[in-house]
Amino acid sequence: MNEDLINQVLARDPAEDPHPDISEFGAERRRFIKQISALGAALIAFHNLPTLSVFARELGSSATAPAEGVALADAVSVRFTVNGSSQSLSLDARTTLLDTLREHLDLTCSKKGCDHGQCGACTVLVNGRRVLSCLTLAATLDGASVTTIEGLAHGEGLHPMQAAFVKHDGFQCGYCTPGQICSAVAMLAEWRNGMPSAVSSSGAPAPADLNEDELRERMSGNLCRCGAYVGIRQAIQEAAGGTVR
Ligand code: FES
Ligand code: FES
Repeated sequence: MNEDLINQVLARDPAEDPHPDISEFGAERRRFIKQISALGAALIAFHNLPTLSVFARELGSSATAPAEGVALADAVSVRFTVNGSSQSLSLDARTTLLDTLREHLDLTCSKKGCDHGQCGACTVLVNGRRVLSCLTLAATLDGASVTTIEGLAHGEGLHPMQAAFVKHDGFQCGYCTPGQICSAVAMLAEWRNGMPSAVSSSGAPAPADLNEDELRERMSGNLCRCGAYVGIRQAIQEAAGGTVR
């Protein structure tokens, strides 16, 4: 700001001229406000740079997204079975198993909680073993057998783990439940096959009985924000044959 101009205005005797010419001062003030506004906009843009870049990328991708039925430049073909049904898909190589199930096959019971491998809500079985479908690329599953919660039941008959969850109220909102049940089914198979855990000493066979420490450790990848852990533990205990202590 022009200091001379400010001093002139302050030094002026109002009685001498009740309507001083402040046009130059006003011009200075407008210039100052413009500069501050530009600086503010630049700071906001800098602060939101990652968001803006994602936004720009989204804009770019939607602008260049191929129309339905048009082959993707980096598409891959993958064939696998899902709940016993053969699937042959052409997918963007970056598509996760979770998005494949939910977006391409309309199997929406596997949930997207964190999409970062931290909550277990997306757990499904691949060749009988539990995997986090949000961290698994569908392109890696050629020839695999995928089982989701929709495929655990046999017709109208619930899987014993599903029935146990219902019986023991192993859920509240139910969001984590498909992942909990898939994980519990595979966890019991791991335990019965003698797979050690962080609680079992390294290399030692799994304990004859699945005690509570083992159960907590082996199910620690599945979080329940409703805190329905008491019912979940009782359900798995029953499905395991009542051997949890
Ligand atoms: S959605 Fe996959 S671990 Fe949370
Ligand atoms: S029942 Fe709500 S998150 Fe587990």
